[in-house]
This record gives sequence, C-alpha cells and structure tokens, in this order.
Amino acid sequence: MMERMKEKNPDRNEHIGSGQILIVSYSYSGNTHRIAQEIQKATGGDWSEIYPWQPYPMAFPELLQQVKQEVQSHYRPGLLPTSHTPQAYSAVFVGSPNWCGTIAPPLASWLYQNDLSGKVLLPFYSHCGGVSGDLRGDIFRLCPKADVREALSVIDDGGEELPDILREWFIKTRITEFRIFRAGQERSFL
Ligand SMILES: Cc1cc2nc3c(=O)[nH]c(=O)nc-3n(C[C@H](O)[C@H](O)[C@H](O)COP(=O)(O)O)c2cc1C
Repeated sequence: MMERMKEKNPDRNEHIGSGQILIVSYSYSGNTHRIAQEIQKATGGDWSEIYPWQPYPMAFPELLQQVKQEVQSHYRPGLLPTSHTPQAYSAVFVGSPNWCGTIAPPLASWLYQNDLSGKVLLPFYSHCGGVSGDLRGDIFRLCPKADVREALSVIDDGGEELPDILREWFIKTRITEFRIFRAGQERSFL
C-alpha cells in the first residue's frame, strides 16, 4: 500500500512518512485559518481544517447563546471527516478562536477524539482582546499525556506582523528543533 502511494506521489509520501508537522484549525470567521495558513507556509506542514457537522448560527446573539451553553456543558459537537489524522505526526499545531475564554467546542471535540499522547502540541488562537482565559490549560486538561507548549494568542488575524509573531513563537516553543521537509527536501526551520 505504502509503495503504491509512493509511486503516485513520492514527495507527499516522504513528507507523511517523516512524521513531522500537522496543523489543525477550527475557524468561524476566518482569522484562525489565516494564522494556520501562515504556519503552514512557514513550516511546510500538512493542514487540516475542522468543521462541525452542524454549522453554527449566522446571527451573533444565537451564536453566543449556543456557544455559552456548549462551553458550560462541555458539549462535544460531531465533526465532518478531516483530511489528515494525527498518528503519523510528532508535532501538531492546534488552533481555534477564543470563544468565551476557552477553545471552541469543535477543536475540543477533535482533541477529545484523537490520541495525542507523547506528541508536541502547539496551541494558537485568535481573539478580539476580550476575556483571555487559559487555553493552554484547557488543551492540557483534554490531552494530559501530550507535551503542550506555550500558546500563541493573536488579535484577529495578526495583520502584517503575523510572520514575525510566528517566528518569535517558534523559537520560544523550541519547535525549530524539528526537521521539516518541503518538496521532499529537508531544510532548516527558519
Ligand atoms: C461566540 C463568541 C465568543 C467570543 N468570546 C471571546 C472571548 O471570550 N475573548 C475574546 O478575546 N474574544 C472572543 N471572541 C472573539 C473571537 O475570538 C475573535 O473574533 C476571533 O478573531 C475569531 O476567530 P475566527 O475568525 O477564526 O473565528 C468571541 C467571538 C464569538 C463569536
């Protein structure tokens, strides 16, 4: 099976086989996905977007009411199938908007459904400067056997400074120690 995949797409196979970086993100209005996209550009990792089965309401009052209820009851919404599973990766960036001082329920579902023991997790989130919460702690409580590194919080989508913000965070979290691959070539992180 692996040999057949390799024939079809040798670069991709080597990338997955190298067990390096996965980026997983949920985003309601696009900011977190933009951060995820920039991480993907910088790391050459694979990116998997999370979508709940049931989309959230469009109108803010209903959205807020539903999110508050879900957060308070630790509700785990069902998810659509994702493009990548985390087994083959050693480091997983996990992103979400800050919703009511915590991670959005779709990311909580994904973390709950997947075994992330022994993996390095790098939480990142977008927020609007409101309640800050402890998103790293929330992720650690869901994945107590993972090595959860310092979380990155970004206002909205980080604007033009985002690449610099990411660079500093990569160094601080020592993710730069990971080898990364692009088009089948190993290269340095930054
Ligand atoms: C239901 C809801 C709750 C939110 N709660 C918070 C909050 O507690 N603290 C905060 O700073 N921002 C909060 N926000 C703002 C979002 O985190 C912010 O707009 C973020 O950039 C959205 O990211 P996204 O575009 O990836 O969905 C909330 C937004 C919504 C819709």
